[in-house]
Amino acid sequence: MRDELFRKPVRALTDFEFNEDVAAVFDDMLSRSIPFYDEVHRMIVDFVEAFYQPQSALIDLGCSTGATLAKIADDSQVDIHRFVGVDDSEPMLDRARQRFSDHPLASRIVWQNTDLRQVELEDPSVVIMNYTLQFVRPMYRQSVVNRIYQSLRPGGILIVSEKVLEQSTAISRLFIEMYWTFKRRQGYSDLEISRKREQLENVLVPYKVDEQLELLAQAGFGEAEIFFKWHNFASFIAIKDYTA
Ligand SMILES: C[S@@+](CC[C@H](N)C(=O)[O-])C[C@H]1O[C@@H](n2cnc3c(N)ncnc32)[C@H](O)[C@@H]1O
Repeated sequence: MRDELFRKPVRALTDFEFNEDVAAVFDDMLSRSIPFYDEVHRMIVDFVEAFYQPQSALIDLGCSTGATLAKIADDSQVDIHRFVGVDDSEPMLDRARQRFSDHPLASRIVWQNTDLRQVELEDPSVVIMNYTLQFVRPMYRQSVVNRIYQSLRPGGILIVSEKVLEQSTAISRLFIEMYWTFKRRQGYSDLEISRKREQLENVLVPYKVDEQLELLAQAGFGEAEIFFKWHNFASFIAIKDYTA
């Protein structure tokens, strides 16, 4: 269904929520709101093929409607033993279950309606957080990434995609304006863009690129780099050392 959520006025003083209305239009919303969303997914499949370890779990934290797991299940050439999709929005997980209802790998997927800050991470070699850490309150982010690091097998990876800020405030502003231009090209009006921005203001808190890399380093990741960047969006890969 097409995302027209912000065509009508939003209720004053409410924050953005991953509720039924959002879940119903979510796939269209992401494909028109995240630059190179499909390409980032394709790159993630390549990383999964390079780093997934036999018999381990592949965990997607903030899996929403299961789009990332579906791309991996459909396209990756490796035999994935256990997929885990974690989200605390039941409307999102409903759609993820529907997406996989007839999928040949459905029996290998576990959906967990849990807050990702508390979820048990059982023996993963790949953990993915696509556009989700930005919704975790900053005071919890380091402990979330620490727990992921501790749970990963040596040689395993964490992939994080986020909205980001730059060191330069002026260039951050420029990138955000370029992003609004992108959204206009995707068919969103100025009013829809500004209504959504207001609703996201308190719930989506972007870090600077350097802060994001520092978060990964502090957790213990020996290697962490950006693998994709478009203005105010960046995707990171962090590798847990084999010797850890
Ligand atoms: C922008 S969406 C993620 C998009 C998805 N990863 C993808 O690539 O298609 C963020 C998701 O994270 C979930 N989420 C946010 N905070 C969460 C938390 N503390 N625990 C579990 N899920 C959370 C939301 O319900 C939402 O589905």
